[in-house]
Amino acid sequence: MVTAPTTVTITGAGGQIGYALLFRIAAGDMLGPDRPVRLRLLEIPQGMRAAEGAALELQDCAFPLLDAVELSDDPRVAFDGCNIALLVGARPRGPGMERADLLAANAGIFGPQGAAIGASAAVDVRVVVVGNPANTNALIAAASAAPDVPADRFSALTRLDHNRAVGQLAEALAVGPGAITDVTIWGNHSATQFPDVTHATLTRPDAPGERTPLLAALALRLGGHEQAIAWLDDVFIPRVAQRGAEIIQVRGSSSVASAANAAIEHVRDEHHGTPNGWTSAAVVSRGEYGVPEGLVCSFPVTSDGTGYRVVEGLELDDRGHRRLDASVAELIAERDAVRELGVVR
Ligand code: NAD
Ligand code: LMR
Repeated sequence: MVTAPTTVTITGAGGQIGYALLFRIAAGDMLGPDRPVRLRLLEIPQGMRAAEGAALELQDCAFPLLDAVELSDDPRVAFDGCNIALLVGARPRGPGMERADLLAANAGIFGPQGAAIGASAAVDVRVVVVGNPANTNALIAAASAAPDVPADRFSALTRLDHNRAVGQLAEALAVGPGAITDVTIWGNHSATQFPDVTHATLTRPDAPGERTPLLAALALRLGGHEQAIAWLDDVFIPRVAQRGAEIIQVRGSSSVASAANAAIEHVRDEHHGTPNGWTSAAVVSRGEYGVPEGLVCSFPVTSDGTGYRVVEGLELDDRGHRRLDASVAELIAERDAVRELGVVR
């Protein structure tokens, strides 16, 4: 049976993450080896030559799944009939730019893009925002697409933070990353996020069917429960929360391949399901865990292939609640700043 191509729109396609995304999507890494894709590359005029260059290279790969590559600098054209949108292009913070200026500049990008998605995307469209500040950009895009596209079709990327957390834990426990499940990133994709291992588990290679609480395994390795908690507070949480800044310091620019990989895994799991426990994604809150309705907040999520749902009913201790509350306070401040601009209600 021939499957109709899925239209995937990538904004900022001429940038670094765009370049790391396009070839993997065309190769089938995101939607699987039996789903043809039509790529739509949205850029601003200054980025168009880079996107054109990427399109030439895509042609030179002769990917069997790649049905077409179309370029535009007009959101209404780029989102027309699109099934999946990855909103990557964003305005970076410039010298002397305050947070409010940054939010205003990005409202000028994500507002019109959300409106174009509302006006012309396919009825099944799903959107993930990568461009920073990702959570609030997603809030703006979702508000601008309403009421034509339900808010639960919008999410923001915290899978990179999730993967970073798993990577740090795997190193500390001297196990492969695949042995670790049910880590959670709560809150904002920023330094206030809360990487949480309260419910995480470890599968030992010698007992593949058994899951050990990760905290107990850490305590065993680090010499006791108190040592494990101290490592989590002093090393793990700050390392994961500030990993983006560390990458910028070491590389000289922000993460690219790991960000593209995380975006691909986010969309893949949303569309194909999460068979091995939960993952993390920032989705529109319906009031879960006391997070105000409408904020785009990172939660533990699962998908059965029809979209991410928040895993409910997990217990957090007082310290966990305080960390989540601090990140939510930052999200509220960002929402209030864009409310003042009249972009969201
Ligand atoms: P980049 O500067 O290399 O590329 C951005 C591209 O977006 C540029 O080509 C630019 O021309 C384009 N662009 C700007 N405004 C646009 C608009 N209105 N419409 C379409 N295209 C537009 O940056 P990058 O390294 O690719 O990073 C992109 C974004 O992703 C940044 O905001 C970065 O902070 C963010 N990021 C997020 C995560 C995450 O985990 N959420 C991780 C890494 C980077
Ligand atoms: C990251 O987490 O790597 C990025 O969001 C950092 C950044 O500011 O681009």
